[in-house]
Amino acid sequence: MQDTKEEMIVERIEKLKEKKNAIILAHNFSKPEIRAVADVVGGSSGLTTEANEADCDMILVCGVDFMAEIAAVLNPDKKVITPGRGAACPLAKQLSKEELLEAKKEHPDSEVLLYLNSLAKTISLADCVCTANNALKIAGTMGDNSPILFGPDLGVSYYISKGTAKDLISIPDYAVCPVHNKITVDKLTEVKTAHPQATIVAHPECCPDVQDMAEYISSTGEIVKFCKESEIKEFIVAADVELSRMLQDEAPGKTFYPVSESLVCEYMRISTLANVADALETEKSEVVVQREIADAARIPIERMLEFS
Ligand code: 13P
Repeated sequence: MQDTKEEMIVERIEKLKEKKNAIILAHNFSKPEIRAVADVVGGSSGLTTEANEADCDMILVCGVDFMAEIAAVLNPDKKVITPGRGAACPLAKQLSKEELLEAKKEHPDSEVLLYLNSLAKTISLADCVCTANNALKIAGTMGDNSPILFGPDLGVSYYISKGTAKDLISIPDYAVCPVHNKITVDKLTEVKTAHPQATIVAHPECCPDVQDMAEYISSTGEIVKFCKESEIKEFIVAADVELSRMLQDEAPGKTFYPVSESLVCEYMRISTLANVADALETEKSEVVVQREIADAARIPIERMLEFS
């Protein structure tokens, strides 16, 4: 239930959206009140497709930095803004441009596939990008003669290797999502023991042992689709707790058990109703990607979109 103050901010946001011909894209891990004012709520793949097809003058992205950069790369003629400061995906920043250049030099025959959770400056050096819902399809078309250079996530790297039998070199060889990587086999076993009838769904940013326990693994967007469309009534969700909360709201006839209430990506929650309204009004938090980086990064992103 919204209080009057919250209602007033929502009203302000709606008016500003109309006045500025703006749309709001929000990731599935955003706070519920942000998802309620968003025009599109989805996983990073779905948000990329929407950003690519957006018919508006302004795009406001509620999520983390790489998502806002991708919207800016795909829309050089639109204003892209993101509320709050410091929503830096801790995974994306683990792969530097220098490290990628070094790996490319060491493996000149290898194609580069990057997880979308990467910054535009590294994406600009890739052959293609992928998310969890298209990673297997895309990797399946690559690396026939030499290993694929893949980064930055060891869990997703394991998921691709297992699903495609392709040879991958992980760059760097330590990068993990600090939230999904917190899920342990012990903790998941504890939840499964309490709810043996529930099906385990997991995000591939989880560690390999956790993935091996899961009955369904994919992106946030595909997990939502699977849980809603399946006949199954109970799920254990091995991902950020917001995903099980969202599913519980949207599929009330089913039951969703989070692995732990402490699985929270604080960066995805930097967007608040107040800073969304301020960002729309002041347009100060514009996302700017240098022209030549954007032009180069657009190529691997568009290549991924062709697979979607
Ligand atoms: P999805 O691509 O599955 O939406 O996940 C993005 C993400 O950053 C999860 O940590």
